[in-house]
Amino acid sequence: MTPRVMVIGGAGYIGSHMVRRLQREGLNPVVLDNLICGHADAVKDVELIIGDCGDASLIQALFTERPYDCVMHFASFSQVGESMLDPSRYYENNVARTITLLNAMVRHAVPNFIFSSSAAIYGHPQRPLIDEQHPCMPINPYGRSKWMVEQMLEDYHRAYGLRYGCLRYFNAAGAEPDGTLGECHEPETHLIPLALQAASGRRHAVKVFGTDYDTPDGTCIRDYIHVCDLADAHWRLLEKLCRRELHNMSFNLGTGKGDSVKQVIETCRDVSGRDIPLIIEGRRPGDPAVLVADGTMAKHVLGWHPSFSDLPTIVGHAWAWEKKLVAHHVI
Ligand SMILES: NC(=O)c1ccc[n+]([C@@H]2O[C@H](COP(=O)([O-])OP(=O)(O)OC[C@H]3O[C@@H](n4cnc5c(N)ncnc54)[C@H](O)[C@@H]3O)[C@@H](O)[C@H]2O)c1
Repeated sequence: MTPRVMVIGGAGYIGSHMVRRLQREGLNPVVLDNLICGHADAVKDVELIIGDCGDASLIQALFTERPYDCVMHFASFSQVGESMLDPSRYYENNVARTITLLNAMVRHAVPNFIFSSSAAIYGHPQRPLIDEQHPCMPINPYGRSKWMVEQMLEDYHRAYGLRYGCLRYFNAAGAEPDGTLGECHEPETHLIPLALQAASGRRHAVKVFGTDYDTPDGTCIRDYIHVCDLADAHWRLLEKLCRRELHNMSFNLGTGKGDSVKQVIETCRDVSGRDIPLIIEGRRPGDPAVLVADGTMAKHVLGWHPSFSDLPTIVGHAWAWEKKLVAHHVI
């Protein structure tokens, strides 16, 4: 069986890598994206519908036009700091529009849903490795918006039989190994692209927020997961949902290994062979010292084994992408 998949937010960073993976698997997904943060040229040889997942009449029309086996929902805003300043924007886009989408799915009997969740739902870690049983106590509106949707999904499953999987990403990073697709956020807030932009000369330095954490080198430790490994987990989950082997589950997607901000920047220096000037700043409120996943469940249930997620590989792929952006003046 070849599942018919709609990828919402498919013109964004992670969504576009997912679309690429689906195409490689022989699928012909339909992408819905309002291009508020996405890039039309990140999705090639695929139907791109420019529109909003909160547009009830558009969604109804799309689900009436043809049947779908699964919706993959990548569309949301995802900047923690901005969510603190403007929570309404986050609850509107990430929660209210998702409700519109889910209601249309139920009405049109679209059976499966894959949701991009986040480690931000956990809040401050209570133990060194975070498993799925860790209490969910998000500390910002972004994390709360993701946790609200996860809770809603449980209710939609129980009441309407919607099957779903939530994938809680830790720090997504990297790019297509062939250098043809990568990260392009505006503004960029992620450490690896920021460091590599400093390496390529697109910015003069990279900021390090806090050097006095209780970690070996004093900087925060995060779990970096390659975007192609994320796509692989979605693919495995899609297969399980479509075969009805799985009904409602949430999975952490991380490697179980953390790297500090200083280690990441050092790797960016090694891989690029360039100097990366630093600006040392104070801690940012709400940044836990260490955020590392226990990803055992995804391994056991989905048979998922990240294969690209060592730091030099992630940075190598991201550097190839950065050089391409600079060479093509796509900046
Ligand atoms: N990047 C990370 O490290 C990370 C970590 C954890 C979770 N996530 C989650 O993964 C998902 C994808 O993240 P990303 O980094 O690819 O983000 P992104 O901003 O690159 O992609 C999101 C895409 O969704 C689109 N979009 C936003 N709202 C929309 C709407 N209402 N209707 C239609 N399209 C809409 C945007 O135009 C964009 O193309 C997000 O839900 C994010 O919260 C990302």
